[in-house]
Amino acid sequence: MKMSALLVSAIALAFVAAGPAQAGGDAAAGKTLAKKCSTCHGANGEGKKKNPPLAGMEEGAFIQAMADYKSGAKENKSMKRYATKLSDEDVANLAAYYHSLK
Ligand code: HEC
Repeated sequence: MKMSALLVSAIALAFVAAGPAQAGGDAAAGKTLAKKCSTCHGANGEGKKKNPPLAGMEEGAFIQAMADYKSGAKENKSMKRYATKLSDEDVANLAAYYHSLK
């Protein structure tokens, strides 16, 4: 009994630790990471053709979108490739950077 309760809390903790990124990232670090996004989303996140603009996007929505591409809840081949390579911290930093753009 005790062991299984411990196991459950360990799993719960691991789940929390692996949860989605939090808002409040470092915009300067995000700017460096954003170089590889600019080919599609524009140098200032203004968007390009079928690639949506990211400038001014709400951080929570940005983080959620990235988590959805990563998990496959939102399907997009190019975005999945990028999202899976980014850590939660990277995503938070990118969210802060794009949110700071107009
Ligand atoms: C090869 C082109 C390409 C690259 C490179 C790219 N994206 Fe995207 N991105 C897209 C497309 C296309 C969509 C729209 C997909 C859809 O319809 O869901 C998108 C959607 C998004 C969205 C959701 C926007 C919304 O309004 O819901 C976010 C956030 C995003 N990209 C962030 C990034 C970040 C951060 C990077 C760099 C690490 C990046 N993208 C690199 C093509 C790209």
